[in-house]
Amino acid sequence: MNAGKTIIARPGRAISGRICVPGDKSISHRALMLGAVAEGQTIISGFLAGEDCLATMAALRDLGVTIDDRNPDRIVVKGVGLHGLRSPGQALDMGNSGTGMRLLAGILAGQSFATELTGDASLRQRPMERVAKPLRQMGASVATMDGCPPLRIKGGALHAADFASPVASAQVKSAVLLAGLYADGITRVTEPGITRDHTERMLQTFGAEISYGDQVAEVHGPATLTGCEVAVPGDLSSAAFALGAGCLSNGGHLAIEGVGINATRTGVLDILRLMGAEVAITDRATMGAEPVATLVTSSSQLKGAVIPEALVPLAIDELPLVFALAACAHGTTVISGAEELRNKESDRIAVMAAGLRKLGVSVDESADGAVIHGGQIQGGEVDSVGDHRIAMAFCVAAMCAAGPVTIRDTANVATSFPGFVGLMHSIGLQVAND
Ligand code: S3P
Repeated sequence: MNAGKTIIARPGRAISGRICVPGDKSISHRALMLGAVAEGQTIISGFLAGEDCLATMAALRDLGVTIDDRNPDRIVVKGVGLHGLRSPGQALDMGNSGTGMRLLAGILAGQSFATELTGDASLRQRPMERVAKPLRQMGASVATMDGCPPLRIKGGALHAADFASPVASAQVKSAVLLAGLYADGITRVTEPGITRDHTERMLQTFGAEISYGDQVAEVHGPATLTGCEVAVPGDLSSAAFALGAGCLSNGGHLAIEGVGINATRTGVLDILRLMGAEVAITDRATMGAEPVATLVTSSSQLKGAVIPEALVPLAIDELPLVFALAACAHGTTVISGAEELRNKESDRIAVMAAGLRKLGVSVDESADGAVIHGGQIQGGEVDSVGDHRIAMAFCVAAMCAAGPVTIRDTANVATSFPGFVGLMHSIGLQVAND
């Protein structure tokens, strides 16, 4: 859908500045969805107007929710209540967004009408049985096509479930918790690893009865949500690219303000430090239900590291960047326990390994990760296969290359980080749209 667009990234190691990054994608999706099924009005500031969240906004409008986004920093969602959505009369197109599709599936499982969820070529290849199974267990009828979208959902009276998820996935957990709002009784999700808890925090803010801790969350249904104000922090997953660039800089000093530092997301900071990066956290504050801070970095001598598997779910979206930094670092980096990367917008292990090899980096790929031998990167051409985070990771890797790196199929950068090229250029990254 979004194929095309090339970024040329040139070597150069002078990064500095003081910036803010766009709003958190996970929190923006959730604010729209909870606002839609709450009673009364929800006002969202700091919303990420990236294509993924805009697809969720369009789907909610198709479901009968009025959303006023004329003022981008004051999105007004007129909640219709848990039972006020109406049949859209057409398939809902979630674009590139697994989060949009999986979380909305949880809400649609509680509706009395049937819906179909589809998406772009990448999303139509992603696994959906992981949400379909628990939603069926709760009483919804959910059909997939060989395990992938389109998802056809016919909801109804749901029963509470005690679901042990086989994958550490915030999207699966969230889908079940959202369906649990419609069920009678306590719906409980346990997980094999810690995953982001934005849904739990936000449900609490909207007045749901919920309790949660590491690897477990419980919600009481049927619930009533009350509209409220949601301030969305800067997205750590976007900030990570600037941070990575800051670490690779020769001299210079970079500060990124107002970034979400929820502990279920900060694995990348731990990984950066393990690799020898200087990262400081200052000006800690809270923004609604979420902690935020300014992240400060300066030039560091990155070295290879063995990434602890416990950090993988806490840094799941930042691992393409970690591949890129590992290629620039001295020594060997070992990533394992990351098989979920093969289920993202692309097979991120295979695509990062292929791209780095094209730039002359030695990479040994395994089923659940890779061993990357860092130090030398050549210029050349790589294909991001339409995966936003792969495209941005190669922009950072190019800082250390011996020549320019041409990155193909990068239009989907706009799904999570609109304005990436301009903002990164403003801090010194030598990137330009071709
Ligand atoms: C997300 C959860 C993660 C992450 C995705 C956003 C979310 O996926 O990769 O970008 O907002 O819940 P999984 O939960 O499937 O690992």
